[in-house]
Amino acid sequence: MKDTLILAIESSCDETAASVVKNGRTIMSNVISSQIALHTLYGGVVPEIASRKHIEKINQVIEQALSEANVSLDDLDAIGVTYGPGLVGALLVGVAEAKAIAYARKLPLVGVHHIEGHVSANYIEHPDLEPPFLCLIVSGGHTHLVIVKDYGEFEILGRTRDDAAGEAFDKVARAIGLGYPGGPKVDKLAKEGNADAIEFPRAKVGDNPYDFSFSGVKSAVLNYINNANMKGEEVNRADLAASFQKAVVDVLVEHTMLAAKNLGMNKIAIAGGVASNGALREAMQKACDENNYTFYRPSPIFCTDNAAMIGVAAYYEYQKGTRHGLDLNAVPNLKLGER
Ligand code: KG4
Ligand code: ZN
Repeated sequence: MKDTLILAIESSCDETAASVVKNGRTIMSNVISSQIALHTLYGGVVPEIASRKHIEKINQVIEQALSEANVSLDDLDAIGVTYGPGLVGALLVGVAEAKAIAYARKLPLVGVHHIEGHVSANYIEHPDLEPPFLCLIVSGGHTHLVIVKDYGEFEILGRTRDDAAGEAFDKVARAIGLGYPGGPKVDKLAKEGNADAIEFPRAKVGDNPYDFSFSGVKSAVLNYINNANMKGEEVNRADLAASFQKAVVDVLVEHTMLAAKNLGMNKIAIAGGVASNGALREAMQKACDENNYTFYRPSPIFCTDNAAMIGVAAYYEYQKGTRHGLDLNAVPNLKLGER
C-alpha cells in the first residue's frame, strides 16, 4: 500500500513547528523553533511578538522539516494544521501558510484541534495503543479528563472549574521568582525539596468527582508566601515547589484512578505540557502499576507543543474524510469535539 505523508504545522502559542508524519505513526521529522528566550524577557507569552516571530520563522521551519524527512512538497498527500484553540494571531500564521501550500500544490487541507493533537502524541511511541482509553489532558490552557472513544472522538468526564494545571504551575513559579516558563522550573526545583514540608489544600469541587480546581492551591501558596514575608521569615522555595507540585499531582492522579475504576478502563494516557512533569509521570506510573492498568505517556518532547502530534491527529482525521476548504479560519476558543 502506498504511504500517506502529511506535512503538519503548529503555531498556536510560542513554538513554530513543522513535521512530516508517515502513515500516522512514523515521525520523519519534528522541527520546533521555540520563542521561549524571547518571551522570558516579559515574564510570559506576548501575543503580538509571538505572531511576528511565527511569520519570520515558519518558512524556514517547514523547509527544514521537509529536508530532514528527505521529501519534497510533491511527495505529500495532505497538509495538517492547528486551527484552534490558541492565540488568534499566532494560529493565523500557520493556517495561512497551510492554505497557501494546499492551494499551490492542490493538496487536501486538514484542520486539527490542538488538544486532539496533544492526545494523539501518545500514538507516536506506543504502536499498540488504540482507542478506547482514558486520557488526562493537562496543558497551559486545558485540564480535561476524557474517554478517547475513537480517533478524534472524546467524552469529557471532568474539566477544571478555574485555572488549568499548567497555568497554576506558571503562576506559582512567578510568585517564587522562577519566571517563565514556570512548569519546567518548578519541576526542577521540586527535586531538591521536601514534598511533605507544607500541607496545601487538595480541592474538592461540588457534584462532579472528576472536575478539577487549582485556584485554591494557588491562593494557598500566595498566602503562605505573604505570611512568611510579613513575619520576616525566609521561604524555602524548593520545599514550597515540591509541596505545591504534590498537591496538584495528587489530585490529578486521584481523579484519573477514580474514573478508571468507576468506568472499568484499564488503559490510561496523559497528554499536554504538564504531562512532561517528572512527579506526575512517576505518580501516575505507580498508581497504574498498583491497579494493573497500562500507562501510556509521550516522551517529554512530544508532550509540549510540537507539530508531530498535529500530523498524527491530521492523519486519523484525513482517514475519516475530514477536509477543510480554503476558507478555514483560526478559531481561538475551539471546543474539544468541535469541528
Ligand atoms: O501543552 P503546552 O506546551 O501548551 C499548551 O497547549 O498550553 O503546555 C504548556 C504548559 C505550561 O503551563 C508549562 O508551564 C507546562 O505546560 N509545563 C510543565 C512542565 N513542562 C511544561 N508543567 C509542569 N512540569 C513540567 N515539566
Ligand atoms: Zn499545547
